[in-house]
Amino acid sequence: MKLLVCGGAGFIGSNFVRQRVLENGDEVVVYDKLTYAGREENLEGTGAKLIVAGIEDRETMLAAVSDGIDAVVNFAAETHVDRSIQEPDAFVKTHALGTYSVVEACRQTGVPLVQISTDEVYGSIEEGSFTEESPLEGNSPYSATKAGGDMLVQSYFTTFGTDVKICRGSNSYGPYQYPEKLIPLMILNALRGDKLPVYGDGLNVRNWLFVEDFARGISAVLEGGKAGEVYNVGGPSEATNIEVVKRIVELVPGADESLITYVEDRPGHDRRYSLSAAKLKREIGWEAQVQFDEGIERTVAWYLDRKDWWEPLIDGDYRAYYERQYGARLA
Ligand code: NAD
Ligand code: DAU
Repeated sequence: MKLLVCGGAGFIGSNFVRQRVLENGDEVVVYDKLTYAGREENLEGTGAKLIVAGIEDRETMLAAVSDGIDAVVNFAAETHVDRSIQEPDAFVKTHALGTYSVVEACRQTGVPLVQISTDEVYGSIEEGSFTEESPLEGNSPYSATKAGGDMLVQSYFTTFGTDVKICRGSNSYGPYQYPEKLIPLMILNALRGDKLPVYGDGLNVRNWLFVEDFARGISAVLEGGKAGEVYNVGGPSEATNIEVVKRIVELVPGADESLITYVEDRPGHDRRYSLSAAKLKREIGWEAQVQFDEGIERTVAWYLDRKDWWEPLIDGDYRAYYERQYGARLA
């Protein structure tokens, strides 16, 4: 199969590309703007061809999809909730105009699309788990614009019969994740002896999914999903943020709990995510293989081993972002 993977130089996209090349023998073309979160280094060992462009560039997108592609998988997005609160602009552009450009190219060429989305489009749930029928309630500029992208993609099935499928994943973690997200940020801060900034009371709950499991769930939908359908790819483990941070402290040599610092909460902070993957299991047979205990050990080990990957990242733009996000909170 020849795949066009938009946003394939980011965290989940690059793990998906690695699996598809090494396990399925696919030919992969990555289409990525290489924002701060996308890196060519993430594609090491895959041999994937790289087109550097924004998904919103309609001419380049149409040309890429027209080049003998069998299916498009669209990961390209702005993905950090805190940045969407600081500067929503790029979120609106990429998720609205960018998603439009991708689905329109798929309509024109007849190439099927798998759109990658998130459990955050459903909002927060106190008890039980979200299903594919739960109403959309994006609470941050990130999740609201992702929900808009999903609805646009879905409308192309209803209106034009375009072959689209949507995968909504829960909080993912593992190798190659940019260190602005909870788990890699806490690992690197713990390693460097920096404070560990926990928002609010630390009792918000996230539903953790190891990135290799998410990538396999996406492959299951790509190969076995029905056009026009949404599939939740929910992780096997729920944990409060403070439980996650304490586990990281136990795993990082030299770290201790005195580094944990409770800071001002994220505005509009969703309390709990929980995503049912029952449909994906029932209809296609996918199930997560990696429990949190194993996944977090593998993730910490990867960051301990791959200083060469993260050290060049943590100055420059990252430092400026970190200061904006945490400077006053940690002062
Ligand atoms: P990431 O931030 O690591 O990577 C995003 C990639 O998209 C980067 O390579 C970036 O350069 C590229 N990109 C951004 N804007 C672009 C544009 N306009 N044109 C082309 N490329 C562009 O993100 P991630 O965590 O790998 O997330 C990938 C997808 O999965 C996103 O759609 C996200 O909403 C979804 N998702 C993420 C999680 C999670 O926990 N990280 C969970 C569920 C769903
Ligand atoms: O649920 C899927 C979503 O998971 C994806 O769609 C998003 O792209 C991804 O960023 C993630 O969103 P979250 O907001 O849940 O992830 P984040 O890693 O930013 O935060 C996880 C939890 O940890 C959340 O409750 C906020 C908290 N947190 C986060 C950071 C960065 C802290 O307490 N301190 C921090 O410094």
